[in-house]
Amino acid sequence: MDQRITSEANRTGQPIRLDSGAPAAKPAAGSAGKAWSKDTASSGSEPARADSVVFAARDVSVHYGSAPALVDVTLDIREREITAFIGPSGCGKSTFLRCFNRTNDLIPTAKVSGRIDYHQQDLYAKDVDAVEVRRRIGMVFQKPNPFPKSIYDNLTFGPKVNRMKVDLDEVVETSLRRAALWDEVKSKLKENAYSLSGGQQQRLCIARALTVDPEVILMDEPCSALDPIATAHIEDLMRELERDYTIVIVTHNMQQAARVSDRTAFFTAEIESENDDRRFGRLVEIDDTSKIFSNPSDKRTEDYISGRFG
Ligand SMILES: Nc1ncnc2c1ncn2[C@@H]1O[C@H](COP(=O)(O)OP(=O)(O)OP(=O)(O)O)[C@@H](O)[C@H]1O
Ligand SMILES: [Mg+2]
Repeated sequence: MDQRITSEANRTGQPIRLDSGAPAAKPAAGSAGKAWSKDTASSGSEPARADSVVFAARDVSVHYGSAPALVDVTLDIREREITAFIGPSGCGKSTFLRCFNRTNDLIPTAKVSGRIDYHQQDLYAKDVDAVEVRRRIGMVFQKPNPFPKSIYDNLTFGPKVNRMKVDLDEVVETSLRRAALWDEVKSKLKENAYSLSGGQQQRLCIARALTVDPEVILMDEPCSALDPIATAHIEDLMRELERDYTIVIVTHNMQQAARVSDRTAFFTAEIESENDDRRFGRLVEIDDTSKIFSNPSDKRTEDYISGRFG
C-alpha cells in the first residue's frame, strides 16, 4: 500500500489505491479505537485507533491576510465515516474543509498554520504534491459545477488529466453506477451535462469526483441547491459511499447532519472580548452525532441545535 503523496509517488501517473484489495470491514459504530491513547483534544467520544484516523488536525488556524477566520482547531477525521461540520454562517466551516485538500493554497491571501496529518504524514510538508492531494481528496461544492461538456467527457476528464491507465468506458459506467445515476443517463452519455436536472448534475459531480479513485470526499453543502427528493437521493448515496470512502460534509441542515453523519463537529464564531468585536471560528465540540443531537457537552451546541441561536 503506497500512501505517499509526494511528487515522486505521482510520477507513475497510475491511480494509487489506498485499499490494497478488499476493503476492510467497517468497524461497528462506537467500537473504533480504544488502543490509541494520544490526546485528540476532542471532547466526549472515544479516541480512534491511529490507523483508523485519516486526518489528524492539530491547532489549525487559517488567516485571510492578517484576519483570523478560524483558530486552533484540533480534531480527527476517521476512516469510512461521515463527519458533519455544522455551525452558523461565517464560522469557518468551508475554510476548514478546504484545508483538507489544500484548496486554500489557491487563495493567495489564505494562510494555514498548525498541522494536518493525512495518514500520519504532514499534508503541508514541502515535498507533498498538492495536485496528488486533490486527486485523493475530492471535493463537491454547494452548486453543482459540471463542465460545459458531455456527461461522458465530464467523467473522463480527471482520468485523462491524471494520465490514469484505465478503460475510460468502464470508469464512466462504474462511477455513474456508484453515484446512482447510471440508469438515468446511460442512453445519453454524449449529451451536455447542463441538460441534466440540478440533482442529477450534483450526482454527476459526485461521480466525477469518484473517477480519479479518491479516498476522501469533501462536500460543502452539497444539497443546499436541491429539492427534498434530490436531497434524499444524495443522502442515500452518501450512506452507500461511506462503505468505501471517508466523507466530510458541511451542512446547514441539522436534520441532514443527524440523518447521515457518524460524528458531528460544531463550530461557532463568537466575539472574543468586550474591547474587540472581531469574531473568528472555533471548534466547540466534536462527538458522535447521536450524542451531539441528544446530549451535547456544551451549552452553545445545545442552543444551536435547538434553534435558540444562529
Ligand atoms: N477568500 C476569502 N478571503 C477573505 N476572507 C474570507 C475568504 N473566504 C472566507 N473568508 C472569511 O472567513 C470567515 C469564514 O468563512 P467561511 O466561508 O469559511 O464560513 P462558513 O462557516 O463556511 O460560512 P457559510 O455557512 O456562510 O458558508 C468569514 O469571516 C469569511 O468572511
Ligand atoms: Mg461555507
